Amino acid sequence: MVNWLVSLPKPVGIMACNDDRSQHVSDACQAANISVPNNVAIIGVDNDEMICCLANPGRALDQFERNAKSWFRFDAKAIETCLEAGGIEFRDLDHVAFYWDVRKGVWSFLFHVLRHFPKSLAYFDHQPGIYGRFRSLPKLIRKKYGWNGEFHFLDHHRNHIASSFWPSPFPDAAALTVDGTGEWETSVMARVHGDGRIEILRSSRYPHSVGKLWETVTQYLGFRPNSGEGKVMGLAPYGRPTFVDDFRRILESDGEGRIRLDLSYFDFHYGRSRKYSKKFIERFGPAREPESEMQERFEDVAYALQTVTEERLLEMAHVLHGLTDCPRLAMAGGVSRKT
Ligand SMILES: [Fe+2]
Repeated sequence: MVNWLVSLPKPVGIMACNDDRSQHVSDACQAANISVPNNVAIIGVDNDEMICCLANPGRALDQFERNAKSWFRFDAKAIETCLEAGGIEFRDLDHVAFYWDVRKGVWSFLFHVLRHFPKSLAYFDHQPGIYGRFRSLPKLIRKKYGWNGEFHFLDHHRNHIASSFWPSPFPDAAALTVDGTGEWETSVMARVHGDGRIEILRSSRYPHSVGKLWETVTQYLGFRPNSGEGKVMGLAPYGRPTFVDDFRRILESDGEGRIRLDLSYFDFHYGRSRKYSKKFIERFGPAREPESEMQERFEDVAYALQTVTEERLLEMAHVLHGLTDCPRLAMAGGVSRKT
C-alpha cells in the first residue's frame, strides 16, 4: 500500500470502505512520510454505534441506538429523531447543551502538547480539527433550525455524573465516572447533593486513563479501538492470570482513588495512531493482526486488563465510600460499563 500511495498524484482524496481500512491507509501514509490530510485526505464511512437518550430529570422517556457516521459529527438526523420521539420541535427548546467544554479542552490539549513536545506534534494531524467541529456546533444548529436559544458547552465528567444521577431514583449519591478522557480528567469522584449540586472530590488526569489503556489493548489485540472493547471483554474469561502483575504495574493506583499509567508502555499520548510502545511489544509479544488466529497470550492480556480494571474501580468505589459515607453510587463513563 505504501508504494501505491507514493505513486499517486498529490493532493488526492481516498474513500475507504470502512474506518479500519482508512486507519490502514493513514498508517501507510505515516510510514511513507506523506502528510495527511494535506497530500492524502482520507474518508472512512462507518464508526461506532451512537447512543441517543432523551430523558427528563429523574425519568428516562425513550432510548434507542442507531448507526452514526462519526461520534463527533454534527448528526442532524439523530437530533431530529430524538425530538420526534419526544414529540417536541427544535423551537420548543430553550437550552441546548454539548457534552464537552471546548475552551477547557483546548487549553488542556495545548498544555499536553507542550509538555510532551516534540513527540506530541503528531496530534496536529487530527486533533485541532475536532475542536473546530465542536466549536462550530452552535452556528450549525442556529442556521439549520433557525433557533435562538442558549447553547452551553459543559464539562464532560459533570455531564457523565448528571447522566447517571438524574435518571436514578437516588435523593443524593456518591458519583464515580471513568472514561477515556474528558477535557482533562479521565476519572472523577464526586458527591451529588440533594439539590443536584455536584461537588468534585478527586480526579485522575490525562494521559493517566483507564479508558486509554482499554483503547490501546483493544488495538493491540487486533480490534478497532472505541468499538471492539466489548470483544476484549468477551475474550477475557478465556485467559489465565499470566500478565496480571504486569498490568498491576502498568495501571497503578495511588491508594487514594487516582490512577497512574506507566507511560513507557504507550504512544497514544503523543497523538500516534499506534497506541502501544515498543516496550509493550517487547513484554507481551507482537500485536495480533486483525482477523488473524487467536492465541493464548492474547487471551491472557485481555484477562489481565479486565482483572486489573475491576480491582482499580473497586478500590475507587471503596475510597469514594470512605470520602462520602454514602451507600448510593452513581457510575458513568465508558469504563464503568466494563465492570
Ligand atoms: Fe466520556
